[in-house]
Amino acid sequence: MTAQMKLAAYFNPTGHHVASWRHPRAMADANVSISHYVEMARAAERAKFDMIFLADGNSSREAHIDAVSRSVQFVAHFEPLTLLSALAMVTKNIGLTATASTTYQEPYNLARKFASLDHISGGRAGWNLVTSGQPAEAANFGRDGVLAHAERYGRAREFAQVVQGLWDSWDDDAFVRDIQSGLYFDPAGRHCLDHKGKHFKVRGPLNAPRPPQGYPVMVQAGGSDEGRQLAAEFAEAIFSPHLNIPEAKAYYDDVKGRMAAYGRDPGHLKILPGLSVVVAESDDKAAEDFNLLQSLIHPMVGREILSTMLGGIDLSPYSPDDQLPDLQATVSASRGHFDSIVSMARREKLTIRQLGERCAGARGKLSIHGSAKRIADTMEEWFAAGACDGFCVLPPYMPGQHIDFCEMVIPELQKRGLFRREYEGATLRENLGLPRPAGRYAGMRG
Ligand SMILES: Cc1cc2nc3c(=O)[nH]c(=O)nc-3n(C[C@H](O)[C@H](O)[C@H](O)COP(=O)(O)O)c2cc1C
Repeated sequence: MTAQMKLAAYFNPTGHHVASWRHPRAMADANVSISHYVEMARAAERAKFDMIFLADGNSSREAHIDAVSRSVQFVAHFEPLTLLSALAMVTKNIGLTATASTTYQEPYNLARKFASLDHISGGRAGWNLVTSGQPAEAANFGRDGVLAHAERYGRAREFAQVVQGLWDSWDDDAFVRDIQSGLYFDPAGRHCLDHKGKHFKVRGPLNAPRPPQGYPVMVQAGGSDEGRQLAAEFAEAIFSPHLNIPEAKAYYDDVKGRMAAYGRDPGHLKILPGLSVVVAESDDKAAEDFNLLQSLIHPMVGREILSTMLGGIDLSPYSPDDQLPDLQATVSASRGHFDSIVSMARREKLTIRQLGERCAGARGKLSIHGSAKRIADTMEEWFAAGACDGFCVLPPYMPGQHIDFCEMVIPELQKRGLFRREYEGATLRENLGLPRPAGRYAGMRG
């Protein structure tokens, strides 16, 4: 049997492209429309996507007001766990992955929320673990500046350990609910974590039963050395930002190679590069639609997004026709984004204006357009090269391009045997082919 891809559908209200909300086939007020999300989730499930993925941050995006007032992404939208709880009730099989940061909350709160979502959805929850590196986020949590990169990752690692420890608070069969004897749970099936570490002191137990999946699926997207190390230890899916096969493959081999040190099987991690797709009936029609979308990018927005993606570097002293100057990554920079943008600029000798347009559109993710055949060819090429296990598909505008991907590209992938026609299981773990982790106290009761 041909190996099959895993696919996540990335939902940003109006789409991933910075000008998405201005496209005639987008829905400009999608950020407050639950019916829009319900329709998008149902379409993704009909197409058999592994999961829906919601990105998030802890502030309304800050940039020059002339630019931010012309954008929709990360400005004002639903809180992801709240939204996924609603979507759990109108879907049956599709995974529900939310981004949640380890920087400004406590592991107890987060463990409880994801355990609840996993129960509510019947084992379909995923947690995209991120650290918060934006100054605008720090300002909302009583801090004058962001934590240093290494400090954020140190906290993130201990955070993840505590969360998983709390998910093991109860044995899978602790709740006996014996009406005859009056025993609700077996005291031997309840465990206090008693964690005392550098960042957290947490007694437990968690006031939620063990999640149906044991642990909700752990997702990550770090590109830095610390991010890769954390992914090798904990992640079961990664959203990566690479723009070409050699860089993606080097990342894939590097992260999977680090897993042995943690006694993990590389097959238990699915690496899914972000992929923005404009598909149409023909290559020419897709190019036309892509050009329309790019023409909707306001010039202020291009330069501002480039500057944000590089970690808040001020590009205003340079002319738009200058080449990118020599830059040092700042503390807020995403290393993955920073490195791939700088290497694209050098490789293709792009001016700041050209780079701005490139980055503003798909915001640094791989962006392709064409007929379903051309899109499937590219996806197949990456997959066959061992550069990924599938993709995180970023519809540039929604509903239009999400529906088109579901109706045009998915059948093409299915025809080639590269994607499922039916879900394999009921939980996200089963569909991703991941084992269910046993509780750390399993088998210790008499
Ligand atoms: C497809 C994709 C989606 C991401 N979504 C989020 C997100 O929702 N919130 C966030 O804070 N970071 C997001 N990131 C960024 C990463 O999670 C990570 O925080 C960032 O790359 C910085 O980590 P690093 O310093 O290890 O590179 C995303 C990255 C990719 C490639």
